[in-house]
Amino acid sequence: MTRIGVAFNLKPEPLGAPVGATLGGADNETADPIHGDEEPPSNGAGPVRAPRQRPATTGRPDNTVLLQELAADDEYAEWDTAETIDAVVRALSAYGTVIRLEATPDFPERLRAERPDIVFNMAEGSGGKNREAHVPAICEFFDVPYTGSDPLTLSLCLDKSRTKEVLSHYGVATPCFAVLESLDAVDLLSPALRYPLFVKPIHEGSSKGITERNLCQTPADLAAQVEFLLDSYAQPVLVEEYLPGAEFTCAVLGNGSDAAVLPIVAMDFDALPDGAIPVYGFEAKWVWDRPDAPLRIFECPAAIPDSLRRTIESTTLRAYQALGCRDWSRVDVRLDAAGVPNVIEVNPLPGILPNPADNSCFPKAARAAGMSYETLIQSCLALAADRQGLRLRRVRT
Ligand SMILES: Nc1ncnc2c1ncn2[C@@H]1O[C@H](COP(=O)(O)OP(=O)(O)O)[C@@H](O)[C@H]1O
Ligand SMILES: [Mg+2]
Repeated sequence: MTRIGVAFNLKPEPLGAPVGATLGGADNETADPIHGDEEPPSNGAGPVRAPRQRPATTGRPDNTVLLQELAADDEYAEWDTAETIDAVVRALSAYGTVIRLEATPDFPERLRAERPDIVFNMAEGSGGKNREAHVPAICEFFDVPYTGSDPLTLSLCLDKSRTKEVLSHYGVATPCFAVLESLDAVDLLSPALRYPLFVKPIHEGSSKGITERNLCQTPADLAAQVEFLLDSYAQPVLVEEYLPGAEFTCAVLGNGSDAAVLPIVAMDFDALPDGAIPVYGFEAKWVWDRPDAPLRIFECPAAIPDSLRRTIESTTLRAYQALGCRDWSRVDVRLDAAGVPNVIEVNPLPGILPNPADNSCFPKAARAAGMSYETLIQSCLALAADRQGLRLRRVRT
């Protein structure tokens, strides 16, 4: 029987009382948005009332300050819950014996001792800009096949500016950008970059550090937010031109010329509170989406003309190939002022929350393609097995 390892990082349970803070306003409740799920929580992050005010470039409401501090304190936002890991284990068990390999410091010894035939990698890793590459690199070291992209691609995609350099080299549209390692160069950015600008920590995911305050209309906004991000995240800040158009996220499954885009997910920013800026950041993922009031922000398949769908698909696939993605990945795309699809980032370890009530884009796109959660996980396993010459046999239906 095939022995299938699953490598994961388990999100710690919140300790005791919620550590969240009141988000301004008498009827706001306390909550713990930082310990929610990797992807947006209609799935159990605490109840937090949406800040309804538009955070204008001047006179921003105080709660946006608190929100961005919470967003900077979201250490485990990328890790998976027991529910997600159990669902993946269930899906994999149709093809063999599943061995849980938590990506803790004893992972190398356990991997070597267990020597599974293949590892299903969903470990987001801990610590540093190469964190997502650790598990696959250890698998390579011990010559154990694994699912998904290799360490180079995982590290590359976790560096948003290096990703953009590669995309630019291959002629894939991506917003003009600069990287700031200190505040010194902030004044030199204009006129090279045109306002409004959007800033983000260079090595994060799950909207860590991305709040409404990251949209900068003026040099003063920019200096303040770059300073905040440099201080909070201790890593360079990516400064990009702001893309004003519609946003999509595209799930890709497959390898080489067989790689294909599942039905495209569109963001409906009308679902955000009145006056919110149209971005899918920390507030939309972790604050405004609640189990008792899910944020209906996704439309899948996206209701767009065929010609736009085809352009988005080809941009997505070019990005996937340019970055060397394997088996699966999710590509975030947004239209510029001329309606041209630009790639914002590529996620080679896509979020895979199993509960359809949760806003998890990859499983949602798979469902729109008629594929169950189990089939999605099994497809990724099968693609990786095929690539590495491993034969899988179904042991249960
Ligand atoms: N250049 C940009 N222009 C407009 N919106 C952007 C830009 N970059 C990011 N965003 C918004 O911020 C969100 C999060 O950015 P992204 O780079 O995808 O980070 P994460 O890794 O946290 O998902 C995007 O989904 C999009 O709504
Ligand atoms: Mg993203």
